[in-house]
Amino acid sequence: MKKIGIIGGGAMGSGIAQVFAQSGHSVVLYDTNKEALDRSKQNLAKTFEKLVAKEKYTAEKAQEIQNKIEYADSLTAFASIDLMIEAIIENLDIKKSVFKQVEEIVSDECILASNTSSLSIASIASACSKPERVIGIHFFNPAPLMALVEIIPAVQTREGLADEVKALIQSVGKLPVITKDTPGFIVNRVARPFYSESIRLLEEGVADAETIDFAMTSVGGFRMGPFELMDFIGHDVNYRVTESVFESFFYDPRFKPSFSQKRLFEAGYYGRKSGRGFYNYAEGVEKKAPSQDQALLEKIYKRVLVMLINEAADALFLNIANREDLDTAMTKGVNYPKGLLKWADEYGLEKVQDDLDELYNYYHEDRYRLSPIIRNYVKENKTFY
Ligand code: NAI
Repeated sequence: MKKIGIIGGGAMGSGIAQVFAQSGHSVVLYDTNKEALDRSKQNLAKTFEKLVAKEKYTAEKAQEIQNKIEYADSLTAFASIDLMIEAIIENLDIKKSVFKQVEEIVSDECILASNTSSLSIASIASACSKPERVIGIHFFNPAPLMALVEIIPAVQTREGLADEVKALIQSVGKLPVITKDTPGFIVNRVARPFYSESIRLLEEGVADAETIDFAMTSVGGFRMGPFELMDFIGHDVNYRVTESVFESFFYDPRFKPSFSQKRLFEAGYYGRKSGRGFYNYAEGVEKKAPSQDQALLEKIYKRVLVMLINEAADALFLNIANREDLDTAMTKGVNYPKGLLKWADEYGLEKVQDDLDELYNYYHEDRYRLSPIIRNYVKENKTFY
């Protein structure tokens, strides 16, 4: 069993602490804010009360797990840890200074990981005197429930560390995938068109949000439609991710954010949590009924789907991850009904090519450019699986 040190007792740090404690590891959870630590402890107690009520654990076992977590208000408790996972505020300078500080306390063998969603692991590792022990371990929210974990070796990370971390993550019951240190890693890169192409359809007036959501859930089989989902995630979070991915890709137009979402963000219409986003959540306001025009629903679904497939295919083309990991990431990280490369084979690569070429020929916009891998596969009569 390993000793895990977690920095940041917010939503992610607390969830990650629970994951490791449930698998028998001892955990030290550190936060600069004492209240955050108290809240984390209380929330965990409530979670375990529910798990005991559901008979997932006996009261003794639940207590034993909670006792595995030590809440520390000083970093000195990190002296004997084997792995540090940082889950503090998403700010590069602060993260770098925390990594520097931690490196002075932990042993030379201790692995240092960041749970960052949007910063490069290379830039965080650059703050360390032993950058070869730094890696990204990116959990999804809520960490105890979401199986996917993205593992991100940086250019500095030593050979073999990603596989060691992968084995550890597997041993705590999670599904790790290995991805390159590029913006958005897998999920936050490949999922962009689900939002952006849907907003584009809305902006062009092809259909309203209700109809686009209905097309993606009823025809596409997605659990939530893009507009419901963005309102649920919050436009503060979702818009910022979109903007950060766009900037990090040196402004590649295929990741361009939309003005519609930016304005919601600026207006403070964050979605469900603020009572208004694409939808109005005020009491008594009913959603409009979606269109039942099957041809329209099919058209919407196909356009968003081929854009998603193209993004996944391009990630494969650029060796961001392997085929299986790309598909696992989307089914386990964002609950897509199917892996996108598997879906591509079922849909037919030639059809994906034709649909995208048609969009490109119509718009002459870079966002619709087909990934070369699809054209090559069609030429060679190959499929992804
Ligand atoms: P949060 O705001 O809920 O928690 C952050 C915690 O870090 C707070 O309790 C704060 O007091 C503490 N903190 C801030 N600066 C600190 C410092 N210098 N030393 C020690 N503790 C400090 O944030 P959340 O949502 O848990 O996110 C944490 C990290 O995880 C971020 O890097 C974020 O990008 C990443 N992440 C977030 C996901 C999400 O859906 N919320 C999903 C995956 C990753």
